[in-house]
Amino acid sequence: MTIDSASIARKRLYIQEVVTRDGFQAENSFIPTEEKIALINRLSRAGYAKIEVSSFTSPKAIPMLADAEAVMKGIERVPGVEYTVLIPNLKGAERAISVGVDEFNLVMSVSEVHNKANLKMAREDSFIALSSVIDLAHANKIPTNISLSTSFGCPMSGIISLDDLMNWIDRFAAVGVRGITICDTTGMANPAQVQAVCEAAQSKYPHLQWTLHFHNTRGMGLANALAAVNSGIDRFDSSLGGLGGCPYAPGATGNICTEEMVHMFDLMGFDTQIDIDALLACSKDLQSLIGRPLPSQLLMAGKVDKLHTAPCQP
Ligand code: COA
Ligand code: ZN
Repeated sequence: MTIDSASIARKRLYIQEVVTRDGFQAENSFIPTEEKIALINRLSRAGYAKIEVSSFTSPKAIPMLADAEAVMKGIERVPGVEYTVLIPNLKGAERAISVGVDEFNLVMSVSEVHNKANLKMAREDSFIALSSVIDLAHANKIPTNISLSTSFGCPMSGIISLDDLMNWIDRFAAVGVRGITICDTTGMANPAQVQAVCEAAQSKYPHLQWTLHFHNTRGMGLANALAAVNSGIDRFDSSLGGLGGCPYAPGATGNICTEEMVHMFDLMGFDTQIDIDALLACSKDLQSLIGRPLPSQLLMAGKVDKLHTAPCQP
């Protein structure tokens, strides 16, 4: 399916920020809790549909996000924004319930090798454990999303087949998740593969909330987002400034950059509801916070409507 210009003008896209989870988890220095809270509070007023605040993983595995409870408790909850968190197991779910979250974002890899590296267990064991987390969520009336890492390819075991991915989609659909995020954890997807996956997933489960999560590891991130939107997807994870990367995937780099994706979709006429200038201001300040430049082309070049003075004519 290709979207024509008339339908683009009406189409709402839902943008989900992951910088304080996917971005911060791989940082080398601990970002102070109050800085995380201040950033989330600014992002909350920029028009996002959802913000992934932190992750309730083991603090030994991800020390950068050991303050997940304090961050969740400290932020302002702006109406209309869903505040989600990454949950790897039952212990993480119990911690999240104690502070109140709008969604559990569960995680598992489609690649067996990556699942063992990331979550220290076989996929089958992850599925059993996550099924208990889903039961707990249902009992507490908390919606669940499963993020399927390495859905397109794994840096250790290669390309993932559509059949393998659909098998895990089928199993999570059967245990009643609200949504599924198809993650290209290490930037191995290409636009043709994205189109095939998006069409297969949505046609089989049109009622599920579908999200696409791309990393720009090989420069295909925005092309993949475009392929997804042309296949009917309306929900995307992305990271401010393009910060991000999985600590358990060799060579992993940042997510697609939120301001670049929003800039592209806005120019095309989609309705992202994002205040792009607010995002650029946050991204600029984030560079100071982490002490190095972010890989955001838009931060360097400015929006297309930023005009320059013409050089003097002789
Ligand atoms: N929150 C806090 N502590 C946790 C925890 C959680 N969600 N899950 C486990 N722990 C603690 C246990 O209590 C135990 O503590 P102890 O040593 O003081 O007794 C310790 O961690 C080991 O527990 P175990 O059940 O053996 O877990 P593990 O070492 O096999 O780790 C994970 C499993 C999944 C919890 C861990 O590997 C993890 O958090 N990985 C991070 C995955 C991730 O976020 N990746 C990047 C994003 S995709
Ligand atoms: Zn990611």
